Amino acid sequence: MKIIVEKNRKICKVTFNDPEKLNALTPSWLREFSEVLSNLELDDEIGVVILTGKGKAFIAGADIPYMKEMNPQEAANYARFTTNLYRRMEEMNKVFIAQVNGFALGGGCEVALACDIRVASEAAKFGLPEVTLGILPGGGGTQRLARLVGQGKARELIFTGDIINAEEAKAIGLVNSVVPPEELEEETNRIAAKILKNSLSAVRYSKEAILTGQDLDLHTAINVEKELFALCFTTKDQKEGMAAFVEKRKPNYKQEGGNL
Ligand code: COA
Repeated sequence: MKIIVEKNRKICKVTFNDPEKLNALTPSWLREFSEVLSNLELDDEIGVVILTGKGKAFIAGADIPYMKEMNPQEAANYARFTTNLYRRMEEMNKVFIAQVNGFALGGGCEVALACDIRVASEAAKFGLPEVTLGILPGGGGTQRLARLVGQGKARELIFTGDIINAEEAKAIGLVNSVVPPEELEEETNRIAAKILKNSLSAVRYSKEAILTGQDLDLHTAINVEKELFALCFTTKDQKEGMAAFVEKRKPNYKQEGGNL
């Protein structure tokens, strides 16, 4: 197996395990990852998914020898398949955290971009170097990078193909936090635990509001937010959360998933 899946109640850790190939996105990886996502989609208990890589890479990008032989139709199929995977991550009612241990290049950077939160080791490196290979980032990179870090920086990174280190990635907002390699796992678990202390249904509705709203005009997006806000009031978590505040105690959420 090129991907190791370890579930511990509400957290699922997914480790890319092809270190000799720097976890490159081979066709078998794509099929396996698709199956991993299907299993996650059907598991309502999981609230947080952590993605990480074994060895010196998170993912060093698409499998270049495989891509080298593609014709335009195959390239379209490949892009359709990968972008669909990333869209599924974005739409899933779980929080995805990229625990970026090393190289996150090309498709690897795109996988990290499709996550909700990115935590990086000081050893991590980021980039979309596709233009150095005669192609463009075809897994949503031209769109998601610009939305995350702004047009100027995204254009610079994509046009130069530059590879930046974790501190630079943090400075432009590409990653949320940077820690020494030996603290990476702890830092990710800390964030996951903090999220899971909250109402899972409220977290899920928040993700839905952010995702749906980002492609809408502000007024329509705020209306979507209003509908989801109202939906929170159908959950036991809303009653428990507010009762706990008033009674000056900690909430005891049942972690029912909400209606998403
Ligand atoms: N596809 C397929 N194989 C890859 C790969 C990729 N994207 N990236 C690395 N590998 C393979 C290498 O071919 C090498 O295999 P080999 O030992 O059989 O020759 C192995 O992984 C180790 O990589 P290597 O280049 O020796 O490691 P390095 O530490 O010297 O360099 C990188 C690391 C990430 C800088 C370099 O591998 C690289 O530039 N990879 C391609 C990155 C890229 O352009 N990604 C976007 C693709 S669209």
